[in-house]
Amino acid sequence: MSKQSTGLLGWIDQRFPLSKIWNEHLAEYYAPKNFNFWYYFGSLALLVLVIQVITGIFLTMHYKPDANLAFGAVEYIMRDVPGGWIIRYMHSTGASMFFVAVYLHMFRGLLYGSYKAPRELLWIVGMLIYLVLMGEAFMGYLLPWGQMSYWGAKVIINLFGAVPFVGEELALWIRGDFVVGDATLNRFFSLHVIAMPLVLIGLVVVHLLALHETGSNNPDGIEIKKLKDENGIPLDGIPFHPYYTVKDIFGSVAFLVVFAAIMFFAPEMNGYFLEPPNFVAANPMLTPEHIAPVWYFTPFYAILRAIPPVAGSAFPGVLAMGASIAIFFVLPWLDRSPVKSIRYRGGLSRLALTLFVISFVGLGWLGMQPPSDLYTLWSRLLSVVYFGFFLLMPIYTRVDKCKPVPERVTWK
Ligand code: HEM
Repeated sequence: MSKQSTGLLGWIDQRFPLSKIWNEHLAEYYAPKNFNFWYYFGSLALLVLVIQVITGIFLTMHYKPDANLAFGAVEYIMRDVPGGWIIRYMHSTGASMFFVAVYLHMFRGLLYGSYKAPRELLWIVGMLIYLVLMGEAFMGYLLPWGQMSYWGAKVIINLFGAVPFVGEELALWIRGDFVVGDATLNRFFSLHVIAMPLVLIGLVVVHLLALHETGSNNPDGIEIKKLKDENGIPLDGIPFHPYYTVKDIFGSVAFLVVFAAIMFFAPEMNGYFLEPPNFVAANPMLTPEHIAPVWYFTPFYAILRAIPPVAGSAFPGVLAMGASIAIFFVLPWLDRSPVKSIRYRGGLSRLALTLFVISFVGLGWLGMQPPSDLYTLWSRLLSVVYFGFFLLMPIYTRVDKCKPVPERVTWK
């Protein structure tokens, strides 16, 4: 247990709870000893957040949030600013890698039922983070003021116009003009560099505080706090530091190797991370042949396009798209399974999760394609599977035959 600190640390500790915070959240935070691969992605998301903030600060030093200068400013950063290209590619690669980390992090939640009681609030805060992250990425994408920046923003903001009664006013309010223009660029810049990152960082702090209140779940879905030794330490727990700090450093290095490989050898990632039309300056008079959002938004975009307009209004599609994200918030209450982890769930839950992953990836692919009748049909089919996963969950998780959950975590 912690002893009284002396010297400089003692001086600080008498004035600020430094050792207390260190002990509570690292050295004496007991995490389950059976964490696996899937438990890397929370710390990796944190790593990418730091990368984005730091590279963002340097980009802002040279960027110009002006519709006449923005595209040129990014070219200037890429060609003339010393080291500008590497900072910009770190930031653009980081945007996609953020979503890679967050999607795998969320998938882990689905695998091991990490959203179930007592971690509902942790999950909800996670979903708020996800919403803010989407807003942050969307606004950031307008800043290079390329063709896809412009037309993508135009299409998405126009969706708000489909809301009955207030839609037009709402879209106008978001744009700050009748068309996407300088006013839009200015406010998106302000929100992207100040407001959203502040909210994001605040939410991540709340996320971690909530996590440390309930304690981490684990691949067995067992509450390790139920079995403690005479000192009140969970029998299946190990101190986060040094055990998991070392594990996370290893994960971070492996992740950074992949990150650097993309950044140096394929920063455009074949048009998935940086889309080809965005190498052309925004031109309000010239619509690109095919407008598609960046890959991390395409599952939802496919759902939007799958729903036919009613009386000329795209509102049903917008509603379905909103619902496809919002439904994640109520996941803790849809899942009625007596066990958390997929390891001890029956065939029905396993099948449902597999179909969900297929629908999500499939919709993601379809959302990138130019519309066609066949693809629309597939999008509708996969949208049904997507929503079926959630809406039928109260039923299949109840009738599913679960296996007995062991007393202690399984660990080799
Ligand atoms: C900026 C984005 C995010 C960051 C930096 C972040 C960070 C973390 C960290 C460091 C952990 C502990 C380590 C781990 O379990 O991997 C964690 C746990 C968790 N996060 Fe996140 N998170 C983010 C987004 C999300 C999102 C979008 C969700 C879900 C909607 C979410 C849900 C959870 C859950 C349920 C846990 C507990 C998992 C368990 O104990 O099994 N997080 N998060």
